[in-house]
Parts: sequence; C-alpha cells; structure tokens
Amino acid sequence: MSETVIREQYDQMADVYDQRWNNYIVKTLSFIKTWAQISPEAAVLDIGCGTGEFERLLLTENPQQVITGVDISEEMLLVAKQKCRTYPNVSLQNASVSALPFANNSFDVIVSASAFHYFDDPDIALKEMRRVLKPDGKVVILDWCKDYLLCQICDFVLKFVDPAYKQCYTQKEFHSLLTSAQFDIKRATKFRFGVVWGIMIATATLKT
Ligand SMILES: C[S@@+](CC[C@H](N)C(=O)[O-])C[C@H]1O[C@@H](n2cnc3c(N)ncnc32)[C@H](O)[C@@H]1O
Repeated sequence: MSETVIREQYDQMADVYDQRWNNYIVKTLSFIKTWAQISPEAAVLDIGCGTGEFERLLLTENPQQVITGVDISEEMLLVAKQKCRTYPNVSLQNASVSALPFANNSFDVIVSASAFHYFDDPDIALKEMRRVLKPDGKVVILDWCKDYLLCQICDFVLKFVDPAYKQCYTQKEFHSLLTSAQFDIKRATKFRFGVVWGIMIATATLKT
C-alpha cells in the first residue's frame, strides 16, 4: 500500500524534484560522495536513486563507474535515464528495496540517500542490502536524523499528513537496526543541515 502511495507521489513530483530540492540534493549528495570514498572500480548500487543526481555526480568524476540505480517511481527513473543516457555502464531499474532483482554478492558499494524514512520494513530492506552486497563490500546510508528537534516535529506531523511517509530514526535506533541486520558500523556521524534540520550517515560492512 505505502509503496503505491510513494510511487504516485514521486511520479507526480519527478519533473520538478531537482529544482525544488536543489539545495538539499546538492549538499547531501556531495556529502555522501565525499564520505563514501567509492573506488573507480567499485560496482555501485544506489537504492532510491530518484532522478539520478548521485549517478551524475559520480560519473562527473569517473565516467567509467559501473552504477545500478533502483527506484519504485518510473517517472523519477525517466529523469535519471535521460541524465545517464550516454553511459552504457549505468543501469536504472524499477525495483523496491524489499525485493532487489539482483544475485547475492553483486555489489561492492551500496548507497542510499534520503530514502530510508520511506522503507516500510527497514529490517527487510537491510536484509536485502546484506544479500546483494559482496562479502568485502560496504553500505553507506544517509537519512534524516530524529535526534534533531525539527526532524522530530516533521516525523510527528508527516505521519498524519503524508501517507507515503513511514518514519525517521534517532541515530541510536538507526545503528541498532544496522547491528540487528548483522552489519558492523565502521564510521558514522550526525550533523545539522542548515540551521535546524538533522542528517545522519553511516558506513557499515558485513559482520564477520
Ligand atoms: C527523497 S527521494 C531521494 C532521491 C535520491 N536518492 C536523492 O537523494 O536525490 C526518495 C526516493 O526513494 C524512492 N523510494 C522510496 N521507497 C522506495 C523503495 N521501497 N524502494 C526503492 N526506492 C524507494 C522514492 O521513489 C524516491 O525517488
């Protein structure tokens, strides 16, 4: 049910998404790119890739990067496909994090930016990430952080007014989800975004 609502919402927003959220997207995606330190040889999976801005950023630096993006909104994917149309090394597919259409151990790096708060079942999402990640790979997840007051207020309000929204997490809850899903957190931080918003990010590897 909620995936249908998310799909409809982002299908409608796709044409204006980049412009409306320009400031947020540029800052968060530049941050995650610097943070993730993705090697040029890495096969990258971007979950909730949206309009393909992260792909565009990565390709600017390394046009040969092998990237797969998945999203449940066909219209967001159409924008992404247009941006990446000259790159045969980029594949963009309509798929949900809850059922990734990839073989086990497929990717060196999995990134997900600003999508985790939509995931219906974060345990299943992380289990799927775990399944498709290579044994020596890493996941890098960036999302809103409920340790900050405005995110708490938004979380409360959005649960009432936005049927697509699931929830955001405190850093402690987020880390607990990662640990329960058998990930080791290698590096993590949270920070103020603008004056009042809060963001967190974590890099995790498979627990050995
Ligand atoms: C806020 S946008 C972020 C897009 C992009 N990562 C960025 O930072 O610009 C969230 C995206 O997650 C996608 N999404 C939400 N739930 C999803 C799911 N279960 N599986 C895959 N994508 C999903 C939405 O369709 C939307 O494009």
